[in-house]
Amino acid sequence: MTIRVGILGCGGIAGNHVEAYRRIAEVEVVACADIDHPRATSFAEKYEVPNWFGSLGALLEAGIDVLSVCTPHPTHEHAVVDAAQAGVHVLCEKPIALTTSAAQRMVDACETAGVTLGVLFQRRFWPASQRVRKIIDEDVLGTPFLAHCSVLLHRDPDYFTRDPWRGKWDTDGGGVLMTQAIHYIDLLQWFMGPVAEVTGRCGTYIHGEYIEVEDAATALLTFTSGAMATISATTGLTPSEGVQIRITGSSGATVALAEYPEGTGQLEIWDVPGQVFHAPVLGRAINADVSSSVINDALKPYHVLQVSDFIAALRENREPAVTGVEAMKSLRVVEAIYESHRTGKTVRFDPAYVSSHMP
Ligand SMILES: NC(=O)c1ccc[n+]([C@@H]2O[C@H](COP(=O)([O-])OP(=O)(O)OC[C@H]3O[C@@H](n4cnc5c(N)ncnc54)[C@H](O)[C@@H]3O)[C@@H](O)[C@H]2O)c1
Repeated sequence: MTIRVGILGCGGIAGNHVEAYRRIAEVEVVACADIDHPRATSFAEKYEVPNWFGSLGALLEAGIDVLSVCTPHPTHEHAVVDAAQAGVHVLCEKPIALTTSAAQRMVDACETAGVTLGVLFQRRFWPASQRVRKIIDEDVLGTPFLAHCSVLLHRDPDYFTRDPWRGKWDTDGGGVLMTQAIHYIDLLQWFMGPVAEVTGRCGTYIHGEYIEVEDAATALLTFTSGAMATISATTGLTPSEGVQIRITGSSGATVALAEYPEGTGQLEIWDVPGQVFHAPVLGRAINADVSSSVINDALKPYHVLQVSDFIAALRENREPAVTGVEAMKSLRVVEAIYESHRTGKTVRFDPAYVSSHMP
């Protein structure tokens, strides 16, 4: 049976969704909606979407099976809950929401309605991420015990000022942590396991003339396994140095995943017994500062993989690779970094947890 899809929000990332659905047999993008009417109409024209609307309500009334939510973060909760109540499955862009309590309401609404909720974290679908996850599953790395995640990105002032929702607490919900680093925090916790404690600090150093939220953050994470990780993240680097997630395991092996330029993930260090190679990402700082549309284009193949997984999950009556519950884990860490910054204290997810790895 053909699956009828609607797209909510016709901005930067929505095209990745349409192009991904178009590659799947017996899936049709039948409608799109945006509160900005000219955006909805020009998007419908560009992607040959037959119907366009000015609200979610009208889009849901058009009779769709799946909704892709591609609107700014604070709108995700209402969109997902309304779609669930209309019996529509939802694939929501990251971050799932601005707070874990909002995310929980979304998960509950989908469970109650018996619809599937998936959340876009397409970097999990990079072959490099899959390889790291595989050697953890196969115990080649041993227990990962030390990790570093550096997210050293550049954003122009224009990135924050061209869309009125960006860079403000009420409409963006956060800065580099909530919008960029959450992708890598998702990968970090996917590799390292459940987080036990978070200590964090945030600041606004570069973009303060036009944003309220943080443009830099650091954090120390402890995991329930006893493992530790540090995070450093900024959108204030000129030029960008990209992203690196480096993990050392109890077998003595180290692997590092790099994203450079943005959107393109690759293995940079693979120091695993019998398979050692180092592929330093050469030419960092050359053409480092790419626009959002170039990043979105580079991410298209991975949107294809995650959207395909979501549709396959519906057809096979199984959970998608990234469920709402799974997407809450990185949000919980981001929320804890903000809380730790505000209170000056470590946030303990399990108050009974005590790291037992000191000799
Ligand atoms: N997975 C990724 O790598 C990735 C990349 C970019 C953006 N995103 C996420 O996608 C979401 C959208 O980002 P974007 O860059 O496309 O933003 P954007 O500003 O380019 O587009 C958002 C669109 O939503 C519309 N909109 C706002 N409120 C609405 C509402 N209530 N109902 C209908 N339409 C509404 C706006 O008019 C705009 O056209 C964000 O949550 C962002 O984090 C994810």
